[in-house]
Order: sequence, then structure tokens, then C-alpha cells
Amino acid sequence: SQTDRELLYKIHEVANNFYQEQMRETEEGQIIGFAYFKERELRDDIIKKFQLGYSPEQRDAFTEYALEKGYNKEILEKSGLSIFPEYAEKGVDRFRERVMFPILSFSGRVLGFGARILKNNVKAAKYLNSPETEIYHKSKVLYGLSQSKQAISKENLCLLTEGYMDVIALHQVGIENVVASSGTALTNDQIKLIKRLTENVTILFDGDAAGIKASFRSIDLLLAEGMNIRILLFPDGDDPDSFSRKHPKDFVENFIKTEAQDFVEFKADILLEEAGNDLTKQIAAIKSIVESLSYYSELKKDFYFTRISKRFGISEKSLFNEMALLKQKKV
Ligand code: GTP
Ligand code: MN
Ligand code: MN
Ligand code: MN
Ligand code: MN
Repeated sequence: SQTDRELLYKIHEVANNFYQEQMRETEEGQIIGFAYFKERELRDDIIKKFQLGYSPEQRDAFTEYALEKGYNKEILEKSGLSIFPEYAEKGVDRFRERVMFPILSFSGRVLGFGARILKNNVKAAKYLNSPETEIYHKSKVLYGLSQSKQAISKENLCLLTEGYMDVIALHQVGIENVVASSGTALTNDQIKLIKRLTENVTILFDGDAAGIKASFRSIDLLLAEGMNIRILLFPDGDDPDSFSRKHPKDFVENFIKTEAQDFVEFKADILLEEAGNDLTKQIAAIKSIVESLSYYSELKKDFYFTRISKRFGISEKSLFNEMALLKQKKV
């Protein structure tokens, strides 16, 4: 309901302040939380800009605090910030002993949190996120959009990364037109959010990204919206975060500008290399490439027909034929 939603916004604001205070004003927060971000070489102004925080080890630190402030069990449970197991007398915090990344709406309201574990070798999930609530819908938010929207408009380009730290690290080197999908395939709602600001997207894949092929489908959704998509694969297992800490800002900027490849060309490279000499796979690859190309403007289509035909030794005529077949099927 409307009143629930208002309360949920409020309680997330309270939680966001709580986690930031815990990090700055407690010894535990300093030694564990703040030290973690320092180890990852984040500057103080960036920690503030992204409102990063720390959730303490104590099982019910936030729940206790919120109850004392007058929030009741029902709303705490609805917020996803507390859990009240049937067998237990007291509620517990969902987020404990993690560094906290508030997830903001377009206009900057806190909707939920991403929370990272401090050690890499523990068996628990590396990132724990808020569950779906009345105000947080994972498929409808993009991390960093609130802090990046102006730069996206100004640059007329949106860089799309995989993770929270990628967005933050790029901001730290002055590249501020960047958002993250937080590890999931892009949805139509997320595409609409970007399209309000720009039609140009460069997708920055982790160098170790296993899911590149799996993402091709959702990239076709972007093309169908008439957007221009370029792809950049980072070298040697780097992601934008690790890469931007190894290289000076100008180098990073230039790298993104010059190394990003048109999506269809990138896709053709990957699929055709994978197909090798297998004719069946080659044909499947070409069909899939033509499918993506079908979303391009006539001029671009023509250009890429020529390029792909030259590069992979496929006649332009057979590409045209395949496109014609595809059009027939669609009618
Ligand atoms: P760092 O190790 O902190 O640099 O994170 P990363 O962003 O480089 O992580 P990775 O490339 O492995 O994953 C990309 C994004 O996927 C993360 O930022 C998260 O949003 C999401 N993700 C990663 N691991 C998990 C997980 O265990 N659970 C969930 N729900 N999301 C995850
Ligand atoms: Mn809703
Ligand atoms: Mn990865
Ligand atoms: Mn990564
Ligand atoms: Mn990373």
C-alpha cells in the first residue's frame, strides 16, 4: 500500500544512515569496514558519494535500532532488512559483517542494498542483495544511475558494467557515465531507463566473463530499441575496477574509446571462432549474426554486410538472402 511504501522508503533512509555511521563512528566499522574500502584504494570523497557503509557483526544491531526508533516488526520484515524466524524470539539483521552499497532510485532514494562479504574465500555468497520488496524490484534498477545520469546525458553515452565496484572505481578516475546491471541480464525496464538519457551504450565485460554468449539475447533487446551498442572485453581477467587501478585515467578513457567494438562484429568474432570448421555451427552463427544485423539501419546493415563478408569469407549475397528469409518469417 501507499503508506507501506512511504514507510519502506523511510526505513531504508534510516538504515542507510545507520550503516554509514557504523562504519565511521564505531571501532569495528573503522577496523573492518573502512579498512576494507581503503584496501581497495577508494578515496574518502568517493566513499561518501556512494554512501558506502558497514553492517556490524552483532546479529540484531540494525533490527534493535529500528525497533527502538518505533518501526514495527511487520514493516521491518517487509523491508527485507530484518528477518523474524518463527522459532526465534527476536529478529535478526539480513546484512551482517558486510560492506554496504545502497541501491538508489533514479531520483536518489534508497530502495535496497547490495552487501559484500569481506573475505573472498568464505563459502557464503560474495554479494548479498535486498530481496524483492514493494519498493525494490531488481529488474527495474540500475546501480549508479542516480550518480551517473547527468554525465550519461552530457557524454551522450552510457557505459554498462557488471558490478558495484566497477561503477565506483570508474567514478574515482573521473569517468562518471557508468551504471551496473549487477550481474544479471539487462531487462526491458532497465533499457528504458537508459534510453531516457542516451541511445548509445558501451558494454564493459569482465575479462573472465563466462556469460558473454548468454548476454547476446538481451543485447538484441537493446538493438530492437534502436540503440547503438559497442562492446569492450577487458584483457587478462581484469574488470573495469581492477583495470582502472592499474592504469592512469587518460589511458583508461582512451582504452574504452578506441578498443570498444561494434556489437555485431564482436558477436561474429566470438561465434565464428567458436564454430571453427563445423559447418552446422557456422550456419547457426551466421543466422544469429544476421538476426542482430536486422535491427540495424539500412546504411549500417550495408556497411557490416561488406565487412563481415570480407572478414569471414561469406558472400554478401548469402547474407542478403538470409536476411530476406528472416524478414519473411517475421511477417
Ligand atoms: P568484486 O569482487 O568486489 O570486485 O566484485 P565484482 O563486481 O568484480 O564481482 P563479479 O565480477 O564476480 O560480479 C559482478 C556482479 O555480479 C557483482 O557486482 C554483483 O552485483 C553480482 N554478484 C557477484 N557475486 C554475487 C553473488 O554471490 N550473489 C549475487 N546475488 N550477486 C553477485
Ligand atoms: Mn512497485
Ligand atoms: Mn566476473
Ligand atoms: Mn568483476
Ligand atoms: Mn571486481
